[in-house]
Amino acid sequence: MTASIRIDAFLSGADLDAALRADVARGLTSVPKELPPKWFYDERGSQLFDEITRLDEYYPTRREKEILVAHASDVAATGADTLVELGSGTSEKTRLLLSAMSSAGHLRGFIPFDVDEVTLRGAAEAIAKEYPDIHVHGIAGDFEHHLGRIPVEGRRVIAFLGGTIGNLPPASRAAFLSQIADGMRRGDAFLLGTDLVKDIDRLEAAYDDSVGVTAEFNRNVLRVVNRRLGADFDPERFTHVARFDKDNEWIEMLLRSEVDQTVHVPALELTVEFAQGEEMRTEISAKFRRSRVESELADAGLRLVQWWTDTHEDFALSLSVRADRD
Ligand SMILES: C[S@@+](CC[C@H](N)C(=O)[O-])C[C@H]1O[C@@H](n2cnc3c(N)ncnc32)[C@H](O)[C@@H]1O
Repeated sequence: MTASIRIDAFLSGADLDAALRADVARGLTSVPKELPPKWFYDERGSQLFDEITRLDEYYPTRREKEILVAHASDVAATGADTLVELGSGTSEKTRLLLSAMSSAGHLRGFIPFDVDEVTLRGAAEAIAKEYPDIHVHGIAGDFEHHLGRIPVEGRRVIAFLGGTIGNLPPASRAAFLSQIADGMRRGDAFLLGTDLVKDIDRLEAAYDDSVGVTAEFNRNVLRVVNRRLGADFDPERFTHVARFDKDNEWIEMLLRSEVDQTVHVPALELTVEFAQGEEMRTEISAKFRRSRVESELADAGLRLVQWWTDTHEDFALSLSVRADRD
């Protein structure tokens, strides 16, 4: 038996192209140049991210999993019957939450939400087979634009794992958290994974592994722009760079042009010059302290009720509720 399954796609190929065109037009004409990280994630990008999660240097996935093993039953104790997962990817660690909710006797539905429809569908189908008694309702969308499309069904835990919140710059993060809070009802909870500030060498190694998988992941954004917009980036002429910005407490991933070069983006009738050594930012990954998580949640109208870390204090999961509705 397989669970009932439905997928709503709020991003057609044409929508994705239009959004990518806008981001590329803005990003390649900005000084310094930049591209937003959501464009890493076509099917290949999602596979590369999945490989990253298994690298020795990439501690966040293992640490977050350790916390979920210890505390999934505490999350289930909220009485939630529906798990919403934002930026769900392969939903690998999510099984720990689903199983805990199922053991608690509440689980009715799972709503994975991701920008990469191929990976979303694969994960939704796999989970529907593993949890045949539940309804799986996948949403292919952009969590910066389509949060309002999440069905308001049952009593929900809205999970945002993997430290993905750190990819949003502070103003976007504040807008995102306010939207989450606005959509929550009495009894709903928000489960947030945040990577914590730590030793710089470990942080930088996590984003610059010795095998080069993260470098391939970073260059994948150029392949996406080539494929979707007909651009002629030569990914091999860009070097992967990862460094910690102490002032902002975030990792930056950049692509450094190895030579003076000209790139054409025919879909935008755009020609862009890169100087040798010029760096284009492709991702930030903010690292947090408890005080910052708590105050950003509070600014959005959320009250932190649980704070769990792994034994190394590398990563944290926080559970929060609407400050005015608990
Ligand atoms: C860092 S990965 C984390 C994956 C998984 N949650 C984990 O913890 O391993 C970020 C995930 O968010 C998705 N994503 C990135 N930007 C997004 C956006 N704007 N809207 C929806 N999903 C997005 C990516 O496709 C990817 O699956």
